[in-house]
Amino acid sequence: MKYILIIGSTGQIGSELTMALRSGYGNSNVVAGYIKGAEPKGELLESGPSEEADITNSEQIAGIVKKYKIDTIYNMAALLSAVAEAKPQLAWKIGLGGLFNILEIAAEMRCAVFTPSSIGAFGADTPKKNTPQDTVQRPQTMYGVTKVAGELLSDYYFKRFGVDTRSVRYPGLISHVTPPGGGTTDYAVEIFYSAVRGEVFKSPVSAGTFMDMMYMPDALCAAISLMEADPAKLVHRNSFNITSMSFDPEMLKSAICKYVPDFRMEYEIDPVRQAIADSWPDSMDDSCARKEWGWSPKYNLDSMTENMLEEIRKKRVQR
Ligand code: SER
Repeated sequence: MKYILIIGSTGQIGSELTMALRSGYGNSNVVAGYIKGAEPKGELLESGPSEEADITNSEQIAGIVKKYKIDTIYNMAALLSAVAEAKPQLAWKIGLGGLFNILEIAAEMRCAVFTPSSIGAFGADTPKKNTPQDTVQRPQTMYGVTKVAGELLSDYYFKRFGVDTRSVRYPGLISHVTPPGGGTTDYAVEIFYSAVRGEVFKSPVSAGTFMDMMYMPDALCAAISLMEADPAKLVHRNSFNITSMSFDPEMLKSAICKYVPDFRMEYEIDPVRQAIADSWPDSMDDSCARKEWGWSPKYNLDSMTENMLEEIRKKRVQR
């Protein structure tokens, strides 16, 4: 991994992943790919090369891979779960059509590929507690369909064409740099802004709705360390269960109340997000990732909460 292209570098994960990769591999070796309307700004723009890289445009991506002699692609382009339900055709075009383009280019130009999968790759028939690495995957959302199909397609390109494809099933990602957009787990980010502003937070999912979650620094570390892992030790590839914590809105509220005692939460259930959340695991078993490439998260619910509140306060969010 020397010359890296990030597709979707201005998104929730991409914006922080690009900076983490630049600090590890050198600014000029990491190209920030973006789409029109989501151009990089500030540090992301100034710290290294950037190129328009629309995942639905194969020729454009192939041109960048040639120009910069790219050997590793982080494919972070996707629509999150609730938006994908509103725009299923576009979700397929980006999630699966886009992945197909990347894998074809990777097979021809010998690139390794990281593509995130998700807790969304599971469905209502999947065991909910301690969800195993290898289990039933019959999601009924377009997001989930693209994630399962993406896992299979990535494994296919590895076995058939020798493309070094690797992936993790991310839980809900909590971060303070770039907001997520249209996910089912986004409430676990928005709640912190409400707490700092002194607003009453309206949770879109009910008490007792447990989902796996992770703080962004651990998510970045997972992607980079999996791509650096010794391939001889990988029994699985697409895709590894990983998790840091599992909570419901009440547990998150209590964790915030430790630092913001007057914080209040009410419920205003969004039926789309609630149905999606109900079909996802409560908590995943990530022992294969721990064993095969040494996965181990640093943040738990309390340390993540403390750090999120501190970082959002630094932004001088108005109270
Ligand atoms: N955070 C994603 C979502 O809620 C799950 O992978 O859509």
